[in-house]
Amino acid sequence: MMAETKELEILKEPLFILENGDVYTNPTEVKMSQLILPCHANHRGELSAGQLLKWMDTTACLSAERHASCPCVTASVDDIDFEHTLSIGQVVNIKAKVNRAFNTSMEVGIMITCEDPLSGMQWKVCNAFATFVAKATGLGKVQLKPVIPRTSEEQMEYSIAAERRRMRLHHLETIKDLVSSSTIQDQLNTEESQRAVPAGKTRVESIELVLPPHANHQSNTFGGQIMAWMESVATIAASRFCKGYPVLRTIDMFHFRGPSQVGDRINLKAIVNNAFKKSFEVGVCAEAYHQEAWDKKTHINSAFMTFFALDKDGELCTFPLIKPEPGDGERRYREASARKKIRLDRKYIISCKQTEVPLSVPWDPSNQVYLSYNNVSALKMLATKQNWVLNCTQNKAKLFTLEEGQFLSFKVEMTVSVNVKQVFMLLSDMSRRHEWDSHYQKFELIQKVDEDDVIYHVISPSVTKGSNFQDFVLLASRRVPCADGDPYLIALRSVSLPAAPPTEDLVRSEVLCAGFTLWQEEDTRTRIAYYIQATPGILPYITRDITGLSADLCKVVEACNKFLEQNKDTVSVFL
Ligand code: COA
Ligand code: ADP
Repeated sequence: MMAETKELEILKEPLFILENGDVYTNPTEVKMSQLILPCHANHRGELSAGQLLKWMDTTACLSAERHASCPCVTASVDDIDFEHTLSIGQVVNIKAKVNRAFNTSMEVGIMITCEDPLSGMQWKVCNAFATFVAKATGLGKVQLKPVIPRTSEEQMEYSIAAERRRMRLHHLETIKDLVSSSTIQDQLNTEESQRAVPAGKTRVESIELVLPPHANHQSNTFGGQIMAWMESVATIAASRFCKGYPVLRTIDMFHFRGPSQVGDRINLKAIVNNAFKKSFEVGVCAEAYHQEAWDKKTHINSAFMTFFALDKDGELCTFPLIKPEPGDGERRYREASARKKIRLDRKYIISCKQTEVPLSVPWDPSNQVYLSYNNVSALKMLATKQNWVLNCTQNKAKLFTLEEGQFLSFKVEMTVSVNVKQVFMLLSDMSRRHEWDSHYQKFELIQKVDEDDVIYHVISPSVTKGSNFQDFVLLASRRVPCADGDPYLIALRSVSLPAAPPTEDLVRSEVLCAGFTLWQEEDTRTRIAYYIQATPGILPYITRDITGLSADLCKVVEACNKFLEQNKDTVSVFL
């Protein structure tokens, strides 16, 4: 949270008018507005983050239940960055809606804004994504009905929700791998470390009894209540360390591993894991002791929260080092450093607007998951845009353009008589692209990141006569559909890699967003859409093409068609 609200922006909600003239509202949309009173605030008059988490969870849960028509429980909450603090007298507005339902789970998008009733100004505090699972008593698993997105914003969220789910379900494994392979140097044995604060001094242990107001009518504890208790003990550990006013800045993605019920005792433990210059990480662990067996505990949740602190003058405090306890403490200390790097990567790649993500972000194992997400979600966003303009049709291919801000994007659509899985296999093998696309001389595989993500070094002939060839380093991310009705997808974006530095004889160029979406039309027919968002480097190619869908592009489309037809039986389709 920021000490002050620096940029205030009035939030406008675009209206979507239905055919009958009514204004459309999403049927799962739930709104909550709360006036911040002293009982919701800390001693500085700022809204406690725990209270906000409770309101967010309640609003999101009601939205999930509206879709599921049965009780739901919180399964997980994605990383949250709190951008502003809220104060007594202000109004917090929470809006939640189901973005997509999968099988038994659904993603709920939550948007939090703050309003100053005196000035009428509104500003964004944060947005979050939570996953809820439908849990009706005695019915076993509940298969949810699908969400039908109506507006372009809903279609985009629906489409990207599948990619967020993918990231979520791999999260624990990913973080574990990254943390264990991290080579961050620690400062455990430096001179400064002699003046470090012993972590043990910040340790907090606290117990809570789950009472009926903390649970739903099925006696399941609300996820938001657990989060609020966790935030409260984390804040105590934070206060002990910073000797100032700790302010919660981020909460890492977490998962409710198991349920708890009315009557359970929730044991909460927190400690500062590591301190950086202007921020520090507190870890919290929540365990439930059930009535039936007090000696048995269930680990229900672990969370990692980062705090900063303000001194009396409202300036950011600088922190001393922390001296971890031997054993687990030292492990957590190193893991916290690795998580800090991961958080920075995430913020850099994901939190900023798609078009503000710098080109050619250096690829690194710790940001792979975010770059891959960014790659796929950028293409999904482009593909769900509504304002594509048909420019021309030639030889069964249609060329569309889209102008938005400084970006000019192109889409070429065609239908081929080849099964979608075969098309997907053939087109996702970029090393064969030169066989049908003369714009590319070579796609050389330089790193196979995993089954679905590959980095290529690409060489293209120059656009203008006599100038050097161009080269690109591209991350290709491919995805099979998450559910029927989704397209197969191959996304491309530039990254930079030390193993492929720019050379003097090639002009290093960049692609912000490009790729294919493939839709099955019939068993042996596939609609292919190829997208490219123009950056100054590739604009000359494209502007040549737009002037009359140049013979060049036509040739490429024909060649692609022929390539797919001729090679369809050479690929084994196992997807
Ligand atoms: N993030 C998001 N969704 C997750 C998830 C995670 N970390 N882990 C599992 N899920 C989803 C699965 O994808 C699946 O969704 P789908 O059916 O749409 O494909 C759904 O949860 C059920 O998964 P499944 O593997 O069948 O069950 P599970 O044994 O992993 O249980 C929970 C998942 C969430 C139901 C279970 O851990 C639980 O009950 N947790 C406690 C929830 C709770 O009570 N919260 C309130 C606070 S205590
Ligand atoms: P890990 O040990 O891998 O970090 P845990 O789920 O055991 O994961 O704990 C999560 C966090 O909770 C820890 O990083 C730590 O900050 C805090 N924690 C765990 N156990 C204790 C404890 N006994 N006392 C204080 N804090 C604890």
